[in-house]
Parts: sequence; C-alpha cells; structure tokens
Amino acid sequence: MAVTKAVIPAAGLGTRFLPATKSMPKEMLPIIDVPVIHYVVKEALDSGIDDIIIITGRSKRAIEDYFDDSPELEMHLANGKKEHLLKMVQEISSLVDIHYIRQKEPLGLGDAVLRAEKHICNEPFAVLLGDDIIRNDRPCTRQLIDTFDRYRCSVIAVEDVPKEMVSSYGIIKGRRLEDSLFLLEDIVEKPKAEEAPSTMGAIGRYVFTPEIFDCLKRTTHGVGGEIQLTDGIRLLKDSQNVYACTFHGRRYDTGDRMGYIEAIIDFALEHDDLRDDVMAYMRWVVQA
Ligand code: G1P
Repeated sequence: MAVTKAVIPAAGLGTRFLPATKSMPKEMLPIIDVPVIHYVVKEALDSGIDDIIIITGRSKRAIEDYFDDSPELEMHLANGKKEHLLKMVQEISSLVDIHYIRQKEPLGLGDAVLRAEKHICNEPFAVLLGDDIIRNDRPCTRQLIDTFDRYRCSVIAVEDVPKEMVSSYGIIKGRRLEDSLFLLEDIVEKPKAEEAPSTMGAIGRYVFTPEIFDCLKRTTHGVGGEIQLTDGIRLLKDSQNVYACTFHGRRYDTGDRMGYIEAIIDFALEHDDLRDDVMAYMRWVVQA
C-alpha cells in the first residue's frame, strides 16, 4: 500500500519562542514572508502525499486560516489589479485538502499522532514535525517513503547531532546495515549526553506502519510527563523491524532561535531582490 497520508502535529505550545507564541502558532513564524508550516506541507506534497492531517490545539486558528480561501483579501487584490499577489494567495489555498483534528490537552507528541488514528484507517503514513525545514531535490519524506517501499517497515530520519545537543532529541541505538541505513535497536527520548546510546538524533520525519497506534496506546507518560512518540517507537521495534536512515538535504531547525536565524539568512540570500542588500548589510555589520 502506497504512503499517501501525512500527519503534521502542530499542537505544541512553542515555549522556545515566547512571548511571540503567546498569541500566534510557532508554525506560523515567517521565514521572511512564508510561514514555516508552508514549507512542511509543501515537502509532504512533493513527496507524493495527497491527504494531510494537521493536529492543532488552542490558539492555532491562524494555521487553518492560512490554508483556507480568503474572499475579502482576494477581492481587494483583484480590485487593485494586484494579479501577482492574488495568484500567490489563491495558490496557497488550492495546494491540498487539509483536515484538522484538535488535541484537546497538550499531552505530548505521541498523543497528538494518536489523534489521527481514525483518519489514517490502517494505512502506512508519514509524520512531519512542524519545526524543521529540510531542503533537497528529493524531499526528505520522499527518501523515507523510498526506504519504506523497499522494506515495508517503519522508518525514521536521523542525523548526527553535536554531543551537547543529544538531550534535545530522540537518540537511537542502531545496527548499521548500509552507509545510510540502521536497524533500530533502541531509541531514548532526550537522554543526558553521558547516557546517550549514540549521537544519532531523530529529526522529525517518520514513516510508520499503522501498528504504531497500538504501541502509542500502550505508552505511559514519559519525559516531561508526556506521551512520547519515541516511547511508542520503542514498543514498535519489539514487534516489527524499524529502520533509521540518514538523509540527503540541509535541515533548518526553525524551532531553535539560531536555526531560525540561519534559515532567514540563507533564504534571503536566495531572493534575487534581497541578496545584494542583505550581503551588503552583513558586510557592514561584520566590519563595524
Ligand atoms: C521531538 C521528539 C524528539 C525528536 C525531536 C526532533 O522533540 O520528541 O524525539 O528528536 O522532536 O525535532 P521536541 O523538539 O518536540 O521537543
């Protein structure tokens, strides 16, 4: 069965970006003029996904509005003959059908994914966390689906992270099968550096068999008192093979302030109408 559905959990409180995220979803933070979640949805589409479920929570209405039609704005742009802006706004709402499910209480990432069970209907599916932008001609999620198609088993994307950062990630212990492929032996949520089984961290892209749902139901409260996706994966690997693979592409962790700044600078340098001014400004800052 092909992977055509994706879950994008976007119910987190975004505490790393307070106070901005007090009244706006962290997924709507703009990289210049495009919100982070736009890139995540686009990655799913470019990977062959045509059914997207976003798990939202309180104060996340802006996400739904962003992907919806906007009649007043469209009329205003049409009347003002702003064809280019009108086309851009209309394209966003025609990208894909998105379904929204509310996570009523912030019980953790594992619980958020579990909310999508009824919509997924016993099919394999992808999970894309809303914090990361990953850029590559062959999207990261597509790379995971390729591996899923080969083994018909769950696959998680991992990256070698700096030792001082392992306590921010789900960290794997894996048996290397190929250059970029590991058989998962264990995964631990946010371990202390000295207790981590490796420095290979789960970066927020997954493809799961539907059996993950039963594992999540059996998962008890873990790190931070939350139902952790990592703990569900830990149970899953006891009953079926789970693979971890490294991926091709540049990842921006926009949930981290420095990652967010890096994304803004790199994306600005790719805009023809911004590049020269941004370069000139950076030179001026460095020399000052
Ligand atoms: C979540 C997961 C963690 C994963 C990380 C990737 O943590 O729980 O396993 O490594 O995303 O970004 P969070 O960043 O939501 O704290």
